[in-house]
Amino acid sequence: MAIAAPAASPSIRISHRSSLFPNCPSVSWKSQYRPHSVVLSSRIRASSSLAVEPELSTQAQTSTDVELFACPVCYEPLIRKGPSGFNLPAIYRSGFKCKKCNKTYSSKNIYVDLTVTAGTKEYNEFKPARTELFRSPLVSFLYERGWRQNFNRSGFPGPDEEFQMAQEYFKAVQGGILVDVSCGSGLFSRKFAKSGDYSRVIALDFSENMLRQCYDFIKNDESILNSNLALVRADVSRLPFSSGSVDAVHAGAALHCWPSPSNAIAEINRILRSGGVFVGTTFLRFRQSTPAILRPLRERALQGYSYLTEEEIEDLCKSCGLVNFSKKVQESFIMFSAQKP
Ligand SMILES: C[S@@+](CC[C@H](N)C(=O)[O-])C[C@H]1O[C@@H](n2cnc3c(N)ncnc32)[C@H](O)[C@@H]1O
Repeated sequence: MAIAAPAASPSIRISHRSSLFPNCPSVSWKSQYRPHSVVLSSRIRASSSLAVEPELSTQAQTSTDVELFACPVCYEPLIRKGPSGFNLPAIYRSGFKCKKCNKTYSSKNIYVDLTVTAGTKEYNEFKPARTELFRSPLVSFLYERGWRQNFNRSGFPGPDEEFQMAQEYFKAVQGGILVDVSCGSGLFSRKFAKSGDYSRVIALDFSENMLRQCYDFIKNDESILNSNLALVRADVSRLPFSSGSVDAVHAGAALHCWPSPSNAIAEINRILRSGGVFVGTTFLRFRQSTPAILRPLRERALQGYSYLTEEEIEDLCKSCGLVNFSKKVQESFIMFSAQKP
């Protein structure tokens, strides 16, 4: 397998020679920034132009950049150290550090962990069941092997058509940076990356196992492996991007799983640049045809998930500062779009 040399990073290059990690004595490529799993790295090392041990790299191969990614603790842009370029192998082999709070972030298996809890040793955080469910290895495995197809029974048109519909909404921001928030096993991230319509695609999810599935689906597809795609673990309520740095946010079938849809949409608004577009899909609490008498029953049955009404979604987008709300509804399925003014 030949992996093409990564495209030059468009991020701002800063001086490389001095140590950017003076307060971190343990930081070296052999320790903190060394990927924990050898699966991907050995694959790359065996076969690609990135097959260079970072500590032996020349300056041209290893760079220190101000990154697109920001610290989830203080939202300062992270400094990245590692191979240049924005693709899965280069990001995977990079280390990140916040220049404000000094917190460091490194790759876990095949994704970069940019959660606030990255690196904690004792503390474990558990989210509501609707989030935790998707962290399970079994659910993550089954997700694209039947689970997702079930959504069609509620009116979801299916990934191909949903992708085309989303692309229509994103027309004005093509060429920019797209974040596929709550990407799950990456069925839409793969399509966005393959389309070639975006300068960078970030597949982001809170579930470690969903991100592993993401990698499993792309590891044999060189066109995606070498595209401008990164896998990132993050919480939608604490997105690891600077304010106004992203052109497009997609969130397929996700809003009902988020611990706090209001915090999430406020975050999405924060990271979008002026004119940036948010497209989401979710299950509605009621179909238009649901008789009033049955609505309380459906409400009880859906307890535990944040299933909203069309009006609530629009209201929430507006209250988070987004404008130009538009929607397409089919049974319980809604695709909505809103824009950063
Ligand atoms: C039903 S799946 C949707 C996957 C995919 N986007 C799709 O369209 O099929 C919902 C996803 O939301 C993710 N999720 C839940 N809570 C999250 C959070 N707090 N931050 C980021 N992602 C979250 C889950 O891990 C899961 O992968």
